Order: sequence, then structure tokens, then C-alpha cells
Amino acid sequence: MKNLGILISGSGTNLQAIIDNIENGFIPAKISIVISNNPSAYGIKRVERKGIPVEVINHKDFSSREDFEKALIDCLEKHKVDYVILAGFMRVLTKFFINHYKDRILNIHPALLPSFPGVNAQKQAFDYGVKFSGCTVHFVTEKVDHGPIIIQAVVPVLQDDTPEKLQKRILEKEHIIFPLAIKMLVEEKLQISGNKVIWKVPVENMKDMYMINPYISF
Ligand code: GAR
Repeated sequence: MKNLGILISGSGTNLQAIIDNIENGFIPAKISIVISNNPSAYGIKRVERKGIPVEVINHKDFSSREDFEKALIDCLEKHKVDYVILAGFMRVLTKFFINHYKDRILNIHPALLPSFPGVNAQKQAFDYGVKFSGCTVHFVTEKVDHGPIIIQAVVPVLQDDTPEKLQKRILEKEHIIFPLAIKMLVEEKLQISGNKVIWKVPVENMKDMYMINPYISF
């Protein structure tokens, strides 16, 4: 059974989706540690009530990014983490951290990358006037929000939308595709080939995944 280390900064609804999908047997993995850089993140409460180990490592307590990342790595290693999952973690990681967990870090981004990288992606997409946005799960590489894409879901932008309404509907899709990506990751069904990710999943399973969410694009 693979160990997950989950990094959060906020409300932790993606973390909750991962917990639920481990509990219902969809993801065969264990969360060995949750780390929040934000001491008041609501996600901390979600894991405390489940008895999952959680630590606060506040970036403000460190004088450099590298020292902060060393503390993250020490904690992740202590908990024997195989894969690092960025579930709404709002700090940019440097190559120091990324090389340590090369090809073993996943991030979820609330837009259809490579469009609208960076912060407030939902509002960026809304303000631009796109008719479709969505969310992306990708491997983390040095260039922020540019790593190999594992899975995306498309969300239409509606006539009476607001950035908040759009954000909420994107989040619902995040809760579907992130567990799917993590399941394939821990089952070693993802093969990175250049900047592409190949799913080593039987066609029948792909169909099942498609049935779960008709907006998943493949
Ligand atoms: C999610 O929408 C996630 O995609 C986004 O933060 C939110 C966290 O929500 N991540 C980023 O913008 C990363 N650049 P959650 O704490 O409820 O999972």
C-alpha cells in the first residue's frame, strides 16, 4: 500500500474527496501525513476528526524557501511518503523539493492548462470570457502549472455565471478527477512520455471513467 503525503493551505475539500475515496476503497492508498502551511486552514479540522496525522509547517517561520522545503521533506520522509499530493497548496515549490520527489508530485489546478496558470485561475478564465473552463491534474515540474497533464474535466461558463458560481462548479469536477488521477498514480498506471501522460488502463476502465463524468476529455 502506497503512502500519500497531502499538502494543503485552505478549506481542504479536495483532501476530503481523497479521504472519502480511500474510505470507500476506490483509491488503494493510505494518507500517512497531511501538512498545512497555514495554521488556520479548515482542512486541518477535517483530518483531526479522522485521526489522520497532521502537521502545520508555516512558511513564515523560515527565512528561505529552501529551509521551508527541507522541513517539508523531513516531515514527509519521517512518514515514509511515496507520493506528494498538492491539494490546494498555495506555495510555489522550487526545484530543490521537486527533484527530491521527481515524477511523484501531483497538483490540481482550477483551469484547463496551459490556459490560466497561477493564482485565481477561475476568475482569470471568467474575466477573459472563455465559454469553457475546467480543471487539470498534472505532474509537478519546475515550471509552475506546466507539468505533464494527467486528466482534465471541462466546465461550461454559463450566461449568468459569476466567478464564484464558476469556481463552485469547477470544484465539483475537481473532486471527481483528482481521486481518479491519484488512483491511477498509486496503481502505477501512469506513464510519463515527454510532456505527455499515457494511461496504462484497459479500454473498458476508460469507458467506466467516462461514464462517471461525461465532461472528462479523452
Ligand atoms: C482548488 O480549487 C484547487 O484547484 C486550487 O485551490 C482550491 C483548493 O480548494 N488550487 C490552486 O489554485 C493551485 N494553484 P480546497 O482546499 O477546497 O481543496
